Amino acid sequence: MTALPDVSPEPIVYLNGEVVPLSEARVPVLDRGFIFGDGIYEVAPLYAHAGGRTAFRFEQHLARLARSLAKVGIANPFDNAGWRALIERVVAANEAEAGLAAGQDAIAYIQVTRGVAKRGHAFPAGIQPTVFLMVTPLNLPDAALRAEGVRCVSAEDRRWLNCDIKSVSLLGNVLMAQYAAENDAFETIQFRDGMLTEGSSSNVWVVKDGVLSAPPRSQKILEGIRYGLIEELSAECGIRFEVREMNEAEVRAADEIILSSATKEVLPVTQLDSQPVGEGKPGAVFAALYDAYQRAKANEAQEAQQGAKNDPRERITV
Ligand code: PDD
Repeated sequence: MTALPDVSPEPIVYLNGEVVPLSEARVPVLDRGFIFGDGIYEVAPLYAHAGGRTAFRFEQHLARLARSLAKVGIANPFDNAGWRALIERVVAANEAEAGLAAGQDAIAYIQVTRGVAKRGHAFPAGIQPTVFLMVTPLNLPDAALRAEGVRCVSAEDRRWLNCDIKSVSLLGNVLMAQYAAENDAFETIQFRDGMLTEGSSSNVWVVKDGVLSAPPRSQKILEGIRYGLIEELSAECGIRFEVREMNEAEVRAADEIILSSATKEVLPVTQLDSQPVGEGKPGAVFAALYDAYQRAKANEAQEAQQGAKNDPRERITV
């Protein structure tokens, strides 16, 4: 038996109806997630606050999960209430049995594959999706990293043209993350045909003369849940926001470059391919967005604690 990688304390996970320690969760090798990368995933932060944890922008994570599943023809195994109940159950199990401490931010990792079948490329009839949920502690970038910013490298985006689907077929992204690691960088910023797309696991934002720009939503990027959020936060902060294609020269001449993702929130890029970005330190737009992001978290936590009875958005409080 292959040893479990170091994930101590061992999380409690959900797999196909069972809530078990990670080492007891087994998937048959003919699972199409293993054989073909035929599956979808979602990564949602569960931010801790005084009253528990709030699944931040959870309704949007669930909507993206539903969209991704629909695009590849896998039936969504739960409705939104079902997903929320499942996460609450797994969080409770981790608190009770896996040392998930109150006040600790967490990440919900959801994966749904097409299921288990005799190997053959086209969709098999009549199989059940494999459903996996794991809740693990989330350690957000610390103040020192935010103050320093991160180094990035750049590379040609060679991924497929369905990057809007949050598929577990991530080899293209894995190679880009490895390229960053080998070059002592935090992330690889990708360009397709000379135009900015995104990082290996983050969206990329560019600031020039006080204007915040993002590449258009398209099949060339995964629309992060932070994409719409940052759009909202920039309006709240009075930062001018534009969606537009950006070429390499524009990105290299940026005053600021910012990364966003569930596990990074927003992070300033202070070096790209060994050249300083702007003045080589985190900029004012980053600082404003970071503060606004923290306010958005606090607001959601407060609304969740108050029950948010008339709030049409769905969220869980765990
Ligand atoms: N990745 N683009 C890509 C390719 C990503 O993998 C991610 C997130 C994002 C940002 O999306 P969001 O704001 O919803 O986190 C953009 C997650 C964190 C991951 O794969 O672990």
